[in-house]
Amino acid sequence: MATQPPEFRGAALELQTAGQHEVMAAGPAETGKTFACVWRLDSELRRYPGAQAVLLRKVRADVFGTVLQTVTKVYERRAAAGFEIESYGGEHPEFYDYENGSRLWIAGIDRPGKALSSERDYVYVNQAEELSLADWETLSTRCTGRAGHVPQPMIFGDCNPREPHHWIKNRPSLRVLESRHRDNPTLYTPDGKLTEQGERTITILERLTGTRRARLYEGRWVSAEGTVYEFDASVHLIDPFSIPADWRRIRSIDFGYTNPFVCGWWAIDPDGRMYLYREIYRTPAHGRRPRAANQVALGWRAVCRHGR
Ligand SMILES: Nc1ncnc2c1ncn2[C@@H]1O[C@H](COP(=O)(O)OP(=O)(O)O)[C@@H](O)[C@H]1O
Ligand SMILES: [Mg+2]
Repeated sequence: MATQPPEFRGAALELQTAGQHEVMAAGPAETGKTFACVWRLDSELRRYPGAQAVLLRKVRADVFGTVLQTVTKVYERRAAAGFEIESYGGEHPEFYDYENGSRLWIAGIDRPGKALSSERDYVYVNQAEELSLADWETLSTRCTGRAGHVPQPMIFGDCNPREPHHWIKNRPSLRVLESRHRDNPTLYTPDGKLTEQGERTITILERLTGTRRARLYEGRWVSAEGTVYEFDASVHLIDPFSIPADWRRIRSIDFGYTNPFVCGWWAIDPDGRMYLYREIYRTPAHGRRPRAANQVALGWRAVCRHGR
């Protein structure tokens, strides 16, 4: 088993010493972003006794089997060099304890538990593109330095590209490090030749099509085909609630004969936020063209009266 420290290049190397409060490693799949983040996190926890860190994703259950495998890989490398770690919680650990009193908490935005019950020195977000800006900003207020075990508290993360409007691409206080396949020493040799693993991985990524190819192979921030703003169920779907009777309601309509026909029902809250609470969406492929406008409108009124 390897006892040498890993080799880091490009964004992964910069990430090891980046000192900004907010940092993100961004790029296509398998460039080594997660490995570099976990290594940095683990290094800081070893360096500063009593340091408290949180590792999280949008959904806690998604941590297991993904980023925690990378944590295990990093711990195995450290163990080979004589360092031990204790974990609590069996298969689904709640935290990992270090010999120097440092602790790594495991959480999700959906299940923060005790992990975010007080100030932390480091917050590491895996697949940060899944988070809303509000999630990120709230987390940033959990590591302002009050935990007090480290000189430079940080919130950092890794992400794959998403739509160009995504908050990660538009946040001035966030330092974004662009990670590339050549940064990963398991894929490319130092002089830029593909390794055997590299051949396998790149062949698979090259076969991706459309938006997935652009994002996960080419590392481009592009919108899903045909969309301007992307729908993401983890961000845009909220739990049902009863709409106060005094909120303004409007309908939007886009008549489509070639493109889909859409009518949306919206409620507007006192701050101007709009909630879509009902929709008709009909693609031409479904066969039936929308009825004449006046007939459709009668239909909506009926639905509206019925639904209120
Ligand atoms: N610097 C490195 N040294 C050793 N192995 C690495 C390094 N960077 C990445 N790897 C390995 O390459 C694979 C992909 O890395 P990962 O960090 O999961 O990629 P990403 O998060 O960018 O998709 C993992 O098996 C990881 O352990
Ligand atoms: Mg990753």
